[in-house]
Amino acid sequence: MERSVIRVVLLHIILTSYGVRSVRGSYKHRNIQEEEQPNQEQPYRTGFHFQPPKNWINGPMYYNGVYHLFYQYNPYAAIWGNISWAHSVSYNLIDWIHLEPAMIPSEPYDIGGCWSGSVTILPPEENPVILYTGDTFSGQQVQNLATPKNLSDPFLVEWVKSPHNPLMVPYDDIDPNFFRDPTTAWRKSDNKTWCVIVGNQDSDGFGAAILYTSDDFVSWRRSDKPLHFSGKTKMWECPDFYPVINGGKNGVDTSVINGVGVMHVLKASFNDHDYYVIGNYDENRDGFSVLDDVDFMDDEVQLRYDYGVFYASKTFYDEAKKRRVLWGWVMEADSQSDDVGKGWSGLQSMPRSILLDTNGKQLIQWPIEEVEELRGKKVALENKELTSGTLFEISGLTASQADVEVSFRLPNLEGVDSIDEKSFDPQLLCRQMDASVKGVFGPFGLLVLASEDLTEKTAVFFRILKRNEKYVVLMCSDQSRSSIKTHVKDAIFGSFLDVDLNQEISLRTLIDHSIVESFGGKGKSCITARVYPKLAVFENSHVYAFNNGTTSVTIPRLSGWSMKKAQIAELDKRRKPTFT
Ligand SMILES: *[C@@H]1O[C@H](CO)[C@@H](O)[C@H](O)[C@H]1NC(C)=O
Ligand SMILES: *[C@@H]1O[C@H](CO)[C@@H](O)[C@H](O)[C@H]1NC(C)=O
Ligand SMILES: *[C@@H]1O[C@H](CO)[C@@H](O)[C@H](O)[C@H]1NC(C)=O
Ligand SMILES: *[C@@H]1O[C@H](CO)[C@@H](O)[C@H](O)[C@H]1NC(C)=O
Repeated sequence: MERSVIRVVLLHIILTSYGVRSVRGSYKHRNIQEEEQPNQEQPYRTGFHFQPPKNWINGPMYYNGVYHLFYQYNPYAAIWGNISWAHSVSYNLIDWIHLEPAMIPSEPYDIGGCWSGSVTILPPEENPVILYTGDTFSGQQVQNLATPKNLSDPFLVEWVKSPHNPLMVPYDDIDPNFFRDPTTAWRKSDNKTWCVIVGNQDSDGFGAAILYTSDDFVSWRRSDKPLHFSGKTKMWECPDFYPVINGGKNGVDTSVINGVGVMHVLKASFNDHDYYVIGNYDENRDGFSVLDDVDFMDDEVQLRYDYGVFYASKTFYDEAKKRRVLWGWVMEADSQSDDVGKGWSGLQSMPRSILLDTNGKQLIQWPIEEVEELRGKKVALENKELTSGTLFEISGLTASQADVEVSFRLPNLEGVDSIDEKSFDPQLLCRQMDASVKGVFGPFGLLVLASEDLTEKTAVFFRILKRNEKYVVLMCSDQSRSSIKTHVKDAIFGSFLDVDLNQEISLRTLIDHSIVESFGGKGKSCITARVYPKLAVFENSHVYAFNNGTTSVTIPRLSGWSMKKAQIAELDKRRKPTFT
């Protein structure tokens, strides 16, 4: 591709086409009473989390005046296969219009599948390009480029694969099976050199990020060393690399390299989780060094975006709201035959805005503010004491589709349960001490998607413990009693929560039929769970606050909202969205 292809006309996102106005208008008329009855045969479909009508998904995304979500999709079945780039657009990241797939396998360099990749917005004209992995079917993973066919099309429906593909091919020591998922590119401060990393497992079997640079986005040179690697990990899928500002309240674009407080986050997906490290990027030596020696799979600190079901995530910089948004793939926890029966598999987490914590040592994640537009009827309470053994219902909510924010205040910490000084695995602790195990301080928290007789319940709770004379807060999500259904993974997830015990401990939980997404300590730890209740569905679902510790705790504040459904439309050939 010549540079002229990059220098195409200025991209106008025209917000006045027919389709757009009709979508915009309909936001205002959203009304919970008018909504269709729930589909009793599909109790697990979500109301406000992104889901296509059917089939298998996971996915990356980006912003472009209109928000575009591209995601990995099998157009034919609810299992993995024929991987294409499905495409949906939105004005608020909540309500979506599904479009035709942007790319399907069609060329020798992607006939085995159009796998993950990323979008980069190229200055100065701000036109988007996609870098993605193609599977050649002969067992080779290669990196390809695609550009929009018509930049005047507000939804960028059609994409054209570059005649120069493939741009990066595995050679020498690169194993053709372990070479995929290019990131959003960033530009060095010479305003010339583009850089991108590609996920890899190196010849020693270690997870790594291969660095490439380019002046024209078409010819890419491999750097003589990876940007980073880790001897404690295997293949890195869907790496992500972006700047954050220490003390900053906004997100920043990928090409912000230097400046006051700039730090970098490197994320890699392996072992079924998205792990990240924070460090310094040195553009002159093409290197990245972690902060405080905390690298991937550190024995004591293992930072993850989410300690539950959340994988292959991507971030993008949202220029309109000056924020960095994270979105992850939340796979199913039931069986593949269940997925075939349901006709779909997988959904997206709530988009989360991310910032660096004020201590500079971890990220803070919070559901994007737009989700609050879906809040309907509210229930609230204040200064409620939860004595030992208390369970009380938060009634008046559509408990299968709700947003609940609660905070807890503790009395003087006396007699806190101790744990071994080498207990650094929060998930193991949550398994050993599930919601039924009484402690001195905790378990206390929420019971969600609970049946009236509590046969089915998902407990999201805290426990205060002491390790080496220091207090630690454990946050758990216990799915072991979520469903009477068999063939469901009855997992228990856990995280340590770095909060000040003199302050309140807060919990926000988004409940959406088969997903429970919890944010502890105002977003310091997140746990996403998939649950498949048989009894606690629709109006038979309840939400409770509970305290099963021997010490009383107080709820200074609790607010819960019934959540409205997001609006989902299909775009027909004449570009007029039809809402389902
Ligand atoms: C892809 O789809 C085609 C057409 O439906 C089908 O024949 C083929 O088996 C599919 N391949 C995979 C890997 O799912
Ligand atoms: C490009 O999109 C615009 C806006 O939708 C449309 O008016 C125009 O006809 C399209 N151009 C081509 C070549 O398809
Ligand atoms: C790169 O671009 C920025 C912003 O346009 C400018 O401030 C800076 O001086 C440029 N750097 C070089 C090396 O040209
Ligand atoms: C609280 O403890 C009691 C007694 O052990 C148990 O029956 C109940 O299920 C526990 N509550 C939760 C939420 O696990």
